[in-house]
Amino acid sequence: MAILKAARLGHPIIRTRARVLTRAEITSSEVQRLIEDMIETMREYDGVGLAAPQIHVPKQIAVIEVNHNPRYPKMPAVPLVVLINPTIVKRSKKLVEDWEGCLSIPDLRGMVPRSESVECEALDRGGKTIKIAADGFFARVIQHECDHLQGMVYLDRMSKLRSLTHLAEFTRYGIGDQTRYD
Ligand code: NI
Repeated sequence: MAILKAARLGHPIIRTRARVLTRAEITSSEVQRLIEDMIETMREYDGVGLAAPQIHVPKQIAVIEVNHNPRYPKMPAVPLVVLINPTIVKRSKKLVEDWEGCLSIPDLRGMVPRSESVECEALDRGGKTIKIAADGFFARVIQHECDHLQGMVYLDRMSKLRSLTHLAEFTRYGIGDQTRYD
């Protein structure tokens, strides 16, 4: 396994729509190794999700896991999930705002409106169709990672650019604790 270098905003791949994979590609040893490397890379950087374009690979693969993450200490746990060719097939009209960060946009946080709940169809790492119903933080991470596969980042979704904050100031001024955004 290997820890891969993260592509940052400004690298063209972050703005590139990723390619859909065939079932045969998914089960290839190359893609299976890539998935392992993505999981290891996500854990190394304390990410709660990672999309393949973020490690310079324009393929529709995302991994998500939340497990006592020091970057998001208050968020509920989400077991490891691998999403290939994901599509959000249903989303709640109700939006909720919360803070997001991104490994490709280091040291920043911004408040982003997202659908409170989503249903996502995807293939798993065995090429099997899965359907996930998610709400709250899990739904938010799914939307964030699906955006990456379309060449979008959370900044594109922000309605209040004024909330954009450096992580050090976010912590220093307790911004995440003070703000109410229901
Ligand atoms: Ni991101």
